[in-house]
Order: sequence, then structure tokens, then C-alpha cells
Amino acid sequence: MRAPSGYLLAARYRLLEPVGRGGMGTVWRAYDELLDRYVAVKEVRLPAVLDEELRAELCARTEREGRATAMVAHPSVITVFDVVTEDDRPWIVMELLQARSLEQLVQQDGPLHPRRVAEIGRQILGALRAVHAKGILHRDVKPSNVLVTEDRAVLTDFGLAALEGDVSITQAGIVLGSAGYIAPERVLGAKASPAADLWSLGATLYTAVEGRGLHGRRTAAAALAALTSGEPIPMTKAGPLAPVLDALLRIDPQTRLDSVRASLMLARVAAGGSAEEPLAPRRSTRPGPMISAPSFTRRPAHRGLHRAEATAAALSNGTTPARTPDTPRGTRAQTVPPPRQERRPGEGVHRRRVEPHPALSVYARVKAVLIKMCLPRRFWPRELRKRG
Ligand SMILES: Nc1ncnc2c1ncn2[C@@H]1O[C@H](COP(=O)(O)OP(=O)(O)OP(=O)(O)O)[C@@H](O)[C@H]1O
Ligand SMILES: [Mg+2]
Repeated sequence: MRAPSGYLLAARYRLLEPVGRGGMGTVWRAYDELLDRYVAVKEVRLPAVLDEELRAELCARTEREGRATAMVAHPSVITVFDVVTEDDRPWIVMELLQARSLEQLVQQDGPLHPRRVAEIGRQILGALRAVHAKGILHRDVKPSNVLVTEDRAVLTDFGLAALEGDVSITQAGIVLGSAGYIAPERVLGAKASPAADLWSLGATLYTAVEGRGLHGRRTAAAALAALTSGEPIPMTKAGPLAPVLDALLRIDPQTRLDSVRASLMLARVAAGGSAEEPLAPRRSTRPGPMISAPSFTRRPAHRGLHRAEATAAALSNGTTPARTPDTPRGTRAQTVPPPRQERRPGEGVHRRRVEPHPALSVYARVKAVLIKMCLPRRFWPRELRKRG
């Protein structure tokens, strides 16, 4: 039975009013009378069919998982303050957010813009990466477990996800999690894994951007059959997010997008660009000399570099090298400005180091000539000195 309003939990948390209800219980706005602050309390409802031993085990497990989650400090991981066992069931005390769940957002406002969904996805993926790094799996990523505030997206309900793997619970016929968000391999009986969490994230973002669940009203088994039929996943509103969703929703966990690339792609879309990374250095679209500047990771030209290397790096970047005491006076360092390249939206947010392509040897030759002109021989890069 649900606790009444005004109930004092653990002689400390006063339950004020419910802020939401889900399959596993009620979430309350509550007041922590010890620390004088408002908190959220999730009152977990355990089915009456469970025997004493199983109840005790589930309470202990929720406490363990709560403790593990509390170790992960991340802006997109819900902060768990306390886990209490009282009245034979677990209660989770957590930060109270001024938020709507992603499920509520879609129900009330309709499908969200792909850029907004990409930003939410980027943040939630950050939360998953942080917990996966500590060996914790979520197991129940779905729109109702993503809370969206004014300025951040937060993943919640870690503690309860741990209950799902319990064989005795499954035998008791209790359905935990939502069929439409469970990875195909788990439907087939595989264990939970980081890759399965990523699939669930893909399905969650799909719902947010398309405004409807991937599986519609079908059962998990029927959905799996549809997914394995080879038909492309229908997407009409995902736009630049489509390749990310497509790659996250791969049936085979081995070929599924990994979290590092997913993070990069989501960041690109969130910044207004395209999810696909350029495969090769782009050529100038303007006609001109066959000189194309490779892109380099941006770093201060001189930090930790030999002066000659610093100059070479400055040249590579098309900037004027700072004069070193060894630069012959009166010799003006010449630079060849790289041709202007068209910027794509979102470009420049993440720079990848791209090795110069052999076709850029003209560029390498010009650079060599300039180094020879500007610097004494002892500061030339080794390969240049060898060549003479
Ligand atoms: N920390 C919180 N701060 C503010 N509101 C919250 C918080 N946690 C949950 N809520 C609200 O309570 C609602 C119900 O959450 P709950 O986790 O109980 O339900 P659910 O996710 O739909 O189902 P399930 O029991 O499967 O997790 C959420 O949709 C959200 O609106
Ligand atoms: Mg929930």
C-alpha cells in the first residue's frame, strides 16, 4: 500500500505530495528535516507475491546499487542521497529536480527537434559512460527515466534497474522495464551489457525525435522480428540524427556504434552539423595551387616543443612563426597561407589529427623550403637534415 502524505520516513524525510507514479512505485516531493532541504523520495512498491527472503534480498540489492550510483558524480547521473529500508521495502532519497521526463515532454509537446534530442543524448551518453566505467549498468534506459531540466538531462532509476536481472523476480512474472526499450539480444536472453544500454539509448532518442516508439504497440518479440527483417528503421523526422540512431539500433551488439563514436556524432549534430565524420581531409573548393593544408590538433605552438619544431608547427598551421633568437635578423619568415576552406556547421568543435596525405607532398616541399630559408641547419627537423 502507498504511504500517506505526511509520512515521516527514517525519522527524517517528510513525504509531501506525489510528483509522479510509475510501474515500480511513487515518487514523492519530500522535505529532509535534518538538512532543511527538499528532496525526491521514490517509494518502491514490491509485489505482494514475493516471499520474505526475496524481499530482504531486493532491499539489500537496492541499497548496494544506490551506494554504487552515489559514487558516480556526474551532472547527468541522478544524485542519490540515501537508500532506506523501511516497512519491508526500499526507499530511494535523491535530488529533487524541476523537470519533466522525456516521456512527458514528447506526450505534451510532440516530437523534439533533432538538435535538442542530440544534446539530450550526448548528456545521457556521458552519464552512461561514467557509470559503465565503474562497472555499473543501467539496464532500464527509457524516456520516463530521462529527466530534462532547464539546462541538463539526467538519467535516473539506477537502483531499480538492478532488480531486473533477478531470476526469481522474472519467475514471479513481474515485468520490469519497458519492452520497447530492451535491446534485441536481451529479449533473446543475453545478459545486460554496456552495448545493450546503448541500444536502449538509441530507442529512447528515436522516440524523442520521431514522437512515437520504435516498436509501436507491438510486443518485444514482434518488434524483434520486424527489426531482423532487414527493413530499414522508418525515420521521417530524425534528419541529421538518423545515422546515429541507425548505428545505435544495430541488432548485432558487435557492430553497434560504440560510446566514443556515438558521443562524437551526437556532439556534431547538437552543434548543428552532420553526424558523419569526414573520411579524408577535404580539398579546397576554390581553384588554385595544389596546396591543401592538413588539419592538426590545435595546441600552443611552443609548449614543450623544440624551437625549430615550434616554427615548423606554426608554418603547418599557416601562422607566422615567432622569431627565435636564432632566426637570422632581417630574414622575414614567409608563410604560405592555406587556402580557405568552407566550414561546415559544427566543424571546429572537435578537431581530429589527420596525417598529411601523400598527395600533399607539394605542401610538405614548400614547408621544407621555408624551414631551410628561415632556420639555421641545426634546427631543421631530422629528416630534412638527412636529405641535406
Ligand atoms: N528526482 C526526481 N525529481 C523530480 N521528479 C522526478 C524525480 N524522479 C522521478 N520524477 C518524476 O516521477 C515520475 C515517475 O517516475 P518513476 O521512475 O516512478 O516512473 P517510470 O519511470 O514511469 O516507471 P518505472 O517505475 O518503470 O521507473 C517521472 O516521470 C518524473 O516525472
Ligand atoms: Mg523511472
